[in-house]
Amino acid sequence: MKKIVIAVDGFSSCGKSTFAKSVAVRLGYAFIDTGAMYRGVTLYGIEHGLIKNDKIDVERLVSSLEKIRLEFVFNAQRQASDLYLNGENVESLIRTMEVSRMVSHVSSIGDVRRYLTAQQRTMGQRKGIVMDGRDIGTTVFPDAELKIFMTARPEIRAQRRYAELTAKGENVTIEDIMVNLAERDLQDQTRTESPLKQADDAIVLDNSEMSLEDEMVWFEQQIKRLGL
Ligand code: DC
Repeated sequence: MKKIVIAVDGFSSCGKSTFAKSVAVRLGYAFIDTGAMYRGVTLYGIEHGLIKNDKIDVERLVSSLEKIRLEFVFNAQRQASDLYLNGENVESLIRTMEVSRMVSHVSSIGDVRRYLTAQQRTMGQRKGIVMDGRDIGTTVFPDAELKIFMTARPEIRAQRRYAELTAKGENVTIEDIMVNLAERDLQDQTRTESPLKQADDAIVLDNSEMSLEDEMVWFEQQIKRLGL
């Protein structure tokens, strides 16, 4: 069967990764969470003192990029890939509020985007991949055969993120999350380099009132349409 590239873009906390992961399992494709890569660079910056008191030393961060090795390694227990930063499993460290607060700023640095975009293109060269992010259908793979743009109402997205973080023991409030999401939406949509934008040929999936099962029923219709 012909393998394709599936781009899943959209706002933060819309359930892109959950959906993209299920799509990858359904088709036997690889799944790449590009947000994790931007988070990995952010974590490196924090750990090496290049991001301090909410300020980024852009010059030093950019000149350190070659030292930042990011890999995805499948974790059988989670049935998903964990991100490794220079050989260390950082999957939970990249999901904290501290990283979430700085990652949109790091991801608006052009050199960081170019560095990660090149790696993402290599990962998708052989097709058979589902990649989620903000600019996959517009910049990373503008020729992707299937582009999905996900969205959901802000209060629903905040509830989902709250449940995810509190389940991990993080002490956060819904208000903190609403503020963080609004800031990230604004930053993602207004940055100069590859802003978050629906590709002209993307299909919109608003999952505010949908379960994952509903989403997969919707997805089956899309792949039938494409003859996959
Ligand atoms: O999907 P996420 O929330 O884990 O993404 C983290 C941040 O990275 C988000 O604020 C936007 C940014 N990002 C990006 O700019 N481009 C991508 N392809 C993926 C994520």
